[in-house]
Amino acid sequence: MIDIRDFVDVDNATQNRRIFGDPDIYKLELERIFARCWLFLTHESLIPNVGDFVVTKMGEDEVIVWRQRDKSIKAFLNVCTHRGMRLCPSESGNSKGMSCSYHGWAFGVDGGLSAVPVEEAIYGPDFDKCKLGLREVPLVDSYHGFIFGCMDAAAPSLPDYLGDAAWYFDIWADVPGGVELLGPPSRTILNANWKSPTENFIGDAYHVGWTHAPVLAAMMGEVPPQASFIGDEKSFQMTSRYGHGLGIINNFGPALLLHECPELAPWMEKRAALLAQSKGPDIARLYTNNWDASIFPNISYLFGIMVFKVWHPLGPDKIEVMTWPIAEKEMPDDLKRRLAVASHRTFGPAGMLEGDDLDNFEYATRPNRGFVTRQGDLNLQMGLGQEREDPALPGVIGPFMSEMAQRGFYRAYADCLSSDDWTELEATTANWKQATLRK
Ligand code: FES
Ligand SMILES: [Fe+2]
Repeated sequence: MIDIRDFVDVDNATQNRRIFGDPDIYKLELERIFARCWLFLTHESLIPNVGDFVVTKMGEDEVIVWRQRDKSIKAFLNVCTHRGMRLCPSESGNSKGMSCSYHGWAFGVDGGLSAVPVEEAIYGPDFDKCKLGLREVPLVDSYHGFIFGCMDAAAPSLPDYLGDAAWYFDIWADVPGGVELLGPPSRTILNANWKSPTENFIGDAYHVGWTHAPVLAAMMGEVPPQASFIGDEKSFQMTSRYGHGLGIINNFGPALLLHECPELAPWMEKRAALLAQSKGPDIARLYTNNWDASIFPNISYLFGIMVFKVWHPLGPDKIEVMTWPIAEKEMPDDLKRRLAVASHRTFGPAGMLEGDDLDNFEYATRPNRGFVTRQGDLNLQMGLGQEREDPALPGVIGPFMSEMAQRGFYRAYADCLSSDDWTELEATTANWKQATLRK
């Protein structure tokens, strides 16, 4: 049995490279992370009508997320219950039922087995279709229209799972009219471990002025000094109980996107003025800042650059990346379109900044094939010991230019993999704050 604490040293902030490629650790991740945690499925705006569906993944389990007749949303494993054929070959669509292309069993929007070809003649009168419906994902819930599913019925509620990260999510998602994701998503395959991009988006401010220097120079007219990404006293990182984290840099604004989509500036100024009235100037300022964030285990978003991503694992060294631009529903259609173009141009599959990062993710993963290389450790000690509490900000806070959020991600990762179930995981993480603050 793997003891993940042999590979993740939380106190010393080092991780053994084997967590980025070992097949046995990967199997444990599928079982104890992806079949246990809340995972992003889709956004309500992408399946607004009865019968609308999308096909996505929960770990490596493919699921159909389907709008029901009563407008609720259910999710089912995308496999026929007869001989296991994949049921739906499409990425999205609208249908009140689906039939399997192998022998023709048909399933309704509620997942029930509705018809079996020549049933009476070959199965007889006692054949019980009620027991042969699609396997349903036990927990499905929505937060500001973002639909999540969870394979473990013993998991805490979605708001409890999001914990301190929900307060931050509310700042940009709980706006008048709400937000939406502009679909369909782009999908790309990348030869990287799923944790590489998640840890990058959760808090890697360090690479921005180095990896992205040539593109930033092209976009902004000059190479910004790397020190400009340290941030001021109002910039910070946050980490939370189940590993969700983010970094918010003040006085940088959504500068990159504004370069591509200047029409966004007046919209955000108007929104910020409203927010200042309803929630105060500090919240309004956060809304106009530039954010990088990940929700454990495999969701990332950049608010300010308006991009939302999921990194689906397809093995220890392969992922499928899904990318959507984020927009506010009340934005004029033309602004949404401009914003989508700008968002894809920066962080879409062929985005100027995305391309820089993909190289990092791939070449941080590939060297693990080397027998000697993969015995080595990786380091996340930047800002160690500078964790603090802030009366105005939920979670544990650290300097923007640090690796605290990444450390929090791997602390939660180790807690998750070393716990047999949610009862043990909740007990293990009960003192996460004191442990993170090193009290
Ligand atoms: S496998 Fe689907 S009907 Fe036989
Ligand atoms: Fe990057």
